Amino acid sequence: MPGPRLNRRDALVGLAAAGTVLAVGAGGLAEASGWLNTRRLTSSRFADRFEQVYGRHNGFRRNHAKGLAATGTFTSNGAGAELSKASVFAPGTVPVTARFSLGGTVPDAADQPGAVRGLGLMFQLPNGEQWRTAMINLPVFPDSTPQGFFDRLLAGKPDPATGEPVPSVMKAFLAEHPETAAAMKIIKASPPSSGFADSTFHGLNAFIATNRAGVSVPVRWAAVPMDAPGAASPGGRDYLFDDLVDRMHRGPVSWRLVLTVADPGDPTHDATLPWPPERRTVDAGVITLDAVLTEAAGNARDVNFDPMVLPDGLRPSDDPLPPARSAVYARSFERRTREPKSPSEVDVEKVNGDH
Ligand code: HEM
Repeated sequence: MPGPRLNRRDALVGLAAAGTVLAVGAGGLAEASGWLNTRRLTSSRFADRFEQVYGRHNGFRRNHAKGLAATGTFTSNGAGAELSKASVFAPGTVPVTARFSLGGTVPDAADQPGAVRGLGLMFQLPNGEQWRTAMINLPVFPDSTPQGFFDRLLAGKPDPATGEPVPSVMKAFLAEHPETAAAMKIIKASPPSSGFADSTFHGLNAFIATNRAGVSVPVRWAAVPMDAPGAASPGGRDYLFDDLVDRMHRGPVSWRLVLTVADPGDPTHDATLPWPPERRTVDAGVITLDAVLTEAAGNARDVNFDPMVLPDGLRPSDDPLPPARSAVYARSFERRTREPKSPSEVDVEKVNGDH
């Protein structure tokens, strides 16, 4: 049976704790935008699906459960203003709250080189606005629709006998989802960097940027590392996070915020499809993270990196993923904030103590 639909009150509860009035509006709109009606997929059913496949882990995110909070700044060089009037692209420096994470719902899973790496960013803008984005180190997303992701999660459910997904089930899924099979090929051809600090993080979803002259253009964005390739070596249970903490102790880590501009006809509705590599890019400035913090009350642990929280000058495109993400993140947030909490596997103090 489908779970209850996210009602207005739940959206308020889920997002009010995360921060702003703007966030509340975004969650409510996302839920009302219609994607939930498609074959009765609801935010509750989606959150249940993560629990069904990987177990329930009280107090943790339903995806990207393992993580580390961070803080820093974004210094805009003003170049992004050509594309968007958003205040984040005016020259200047704003505070950023961030979270590094690994995809998956198991908060103490051992780090693996191929695990999806995430970077969530919340920019605090001078006029009380915020921009929130959650990016990953894959060049494309494996699914073009929320339903595709929902179905792929089940197709990849580990067989209790082997601990691995059943190959024939995934094969059947891919036969029905050529877009995912094609995306997987692109992902395989782009091996991950060694660690978090030298990862590119891609926003993947297309958004519409509007500048002061009222000209609108689709964009995608990415955080491109300024670190040279590192040498994090697989081994310890938390090797990716340990390497990041070590790197941060040596000094701040920076990424360029790069906007890629679509040409007419480039797909905006499908995050499995890359845009041609020759597309124009605009380097909008530098994200610098200078502190990592064990997840704790009041830091990025308690932020919902809802991709629909956008400043004036950026708006959603026809990509169906962001509204769905907004509703499911709110549902995950609402569950995890009412559940008992246990400490995160990733503990900066523990890593500090090792020095
Ligand atoms: C329908 C598609 C998707 C669904 C249902 C989904 C679901 C989720 C959920 C439930 C969470 C936990 C939210 C929380 O409790 O705060 C999450 C976190 C995250 N997702 Fe997604 N996701 C989707 C697509 C994507 C895409 C396209 C990206 C990257 C472009 C992405 C990147 C991330 C990252 C980086 C986090 C961790 C953010 C943090 O640290 O809080 N997700 N996702």
